[in-house]
Amino acid sequence: MPEQIIIDTDPGQDDAVAILLALASPDCINVLGITAVAGNVPLDLTVKNARIICELAKKTSMSIYSGCSKPLKRALVTAEHVHGKTGLDGITLPEPSMPIQELHAVDFIIDTIKNNPSDSITLCALGPLTNVAMALLKEPNIAKRVKQIILMGGAYFEVGNITPAAEFNIFVDPEAAKIVFNSGVKITVLPLDVTHKALISEERITAFKEINSPVGDAVAKWTNFFERFDKEKYGSKGAPLHDPCVIAYLIEPNIFDGRYVNVEIETGSELTRGMTVADWWKVTDREPNAMFIGGLDADRFFNLLVERLSKL
Ligand code: RIB
Ligand code: CA
Repeated sequence: MPEQIIIDTDPGQDDAVAILLALASPDCINVLGITAVAGNVPLDLTVKNARIICELAKKTSMSIYSGCSKPLKRALVTAEHVHGKTGLDGITLPEPSMPIQELHAVDFIIDTIKNNPSDSITLCALGPLTNVAMALLKEPNIAKRVKQIILMGGAYFEVGNITPAAEFNIFVDPEAAKIVFNSGVKITVLPLDVTHKALISEERITAFKEINSPVGDAVAKWTNFFERFDKEKYGSKGAPLHDPCVIAYLIEPNIFDGRYVNVEIETGSELTRGMTVADWWKVTDREPNAMFIGGLDADRFFNLLVERLSKL
């Protein structure tokens, strides 16, 4: 039985690759809907980009929902400096025509979890956790019914990418992250500690190109565009492909390794706002609340990506 998932996302080139990987894997993933949230770019663009990505994959019957346009308590911080003005810079794709669902994304998340068997729905969160937290606030009972949340966010040994202390998704809405991490839901975190080991390279971009399809061409161009920011910043040989790690974990968890630890979210200090304080060495008696992933087999990860994206 394929995993029944909702993808909550702020596309973003890396979100796009994650969504395509999920849509290319019907043998093990059934995407019930895609919920857009404000993050990398404002909400109107993340919704539009979700439609562009689904049309690229020829999945025009996919249900796409518009969600929260700003964090729970704070002003929105976006990342056009990384993703470009459109959020999908690197290639120009046709204006989308597929519909946006009437239902609000938060209500779709709540209804899906309530109307399906308990312990059957997985939330894959690729952006700020505003939609997910709002669903938990509006309908607290879903915390006991949802199977798990697998999210890209946070950092411990890798420290921050938007501030010295915080990773972007958690930084944008730390109050939402605090609600999610304190919800009691089964959580798996793909932080910068692992995504910074999933580095794009010339060879890996060539492998995407050699898929020789509109999807392969778009992924090659998106990853090439996305790479420039991290290469300038980290001097690394390539950019980290963050969000596809969430979907790859669902498909092949044994590519990854991590520890079940306590993770707390800083919301009080402006200096360390959004820091994920992971008790990796268990130096406190705080209860573990998340599987915190620290490593992966990068070659297996990229081989999985190419193999599955070739199916679209
Ligand atoms: O820090 C990386 C995360 O922030 C990724 O999800 C990227 O898409 C942005 O949302
Ligand atoms: Ca994202």
